[in-house]
Amino acid sequence: MKDTAIQVINFSHFYGQQQSLKNLNLQVYRNEILGIIGPARSGKSTFLTCLNRLGDLVPGSRVTGKILIDGQNIYCPGIEVAALRRQLGMVFATPVPLPMSIYDNLVFGPKLQGKKYRLDLDGLVEDCLEKAGLWIEVKDRLKTSALKLSGGQQQRLCLARVLALKPEYILLDEPTSGLDPISTMKIEDTLRLLKKDYTIILVTNNTKQAARVADRTAFFLMGELVEVNETGIIFTRPADKRTENYIEGKFG
Ligand SMILES: Nc1ncnc2c1ncn2[C@@H]1O[C@H](COP(=O)(O)OP(=O)(O)OP(=O)(O)O)[C@@H](O)[C@H]1O
Ligand SMILES: [Mg+2]
Repeated sequence: MKDTAIQVINFSHFYGQQQSLKNLNLQVYRNEILGIIGPARSGKSTFLTCLNRLGDLVPGSRVTGKILIDGQNIYCPGIEVAALRRQLGMVFATPVPLPMSIYDNLVFGPKLQGKKYRLDLDGLVEDCLEKAGLWIEVKDRLKTSALKLSGGQQQRLCLARVLALKPEYILLDEPTSGLDPISTMKIEDTLRLLKKDYTIILVTNNTKQAARVADRTAFFLMGELVEVNETGIIFTRPADKRTENYIEGKFG
């Protein structure tokens, strides 16, 4: 029996008058990688920002329906949004390290959060870099500027920075869209290892990436969830013709 971590129920999102997500119903299981594919403007990024309520920051943004995370409706009044955002760490398409050393990039967030991490920052740095698959490459130059890392290394640093805040969920929005194939492979390998400890949602504009790493894949089109299923099924016998057309590269 799969353990449901996130449950999306009759959920819609609007930017002003424009509806960007249309009555979504979907489960995310604990310790899976859920891939989300779909053409430009299908609502993939909007969906991620609804999960950690970053979307609230867009004026005119409005939702209906529910999203239960660990059983709690995150749109209930009284939800602590800052804590929610810590619980759902996010990695974006373009890595943006802070203009400081590798080490300081990692301890910046935990230090802001205060005392409970103060004891062993060195241990935290090593642990997060290790999990993000970057430790071996940078362990001898932790005090050098993060801006000197390659793009792929910077993206793994951004992932490590998210891990340093001890999230339960990792949301990634096209994390390898700017990376070369080797860096992409490293990120994919890292995600496969991380799912043991985290629940991961991976938005990707590369259908092959979903096929490679996602346990289940959801296909979004114009704000609608067309279908979601085991990745093997989505890529070999999708239920909907529109999914098949997209996967075969007929549009998108
Ligand atoms: N800040 C915003 N204000 C108003 N409309 C927005 C905003 N962000 C996105 N939209 C609209 O919402 C719809 C969904 O956009 P979204 O960025 O979620 O799609 P996406 O699937 O992530 O696309 P892409 O593959 O290009 O990243 C689009 O029609 C887009 O124009
Ligand atoms: Mg997007």
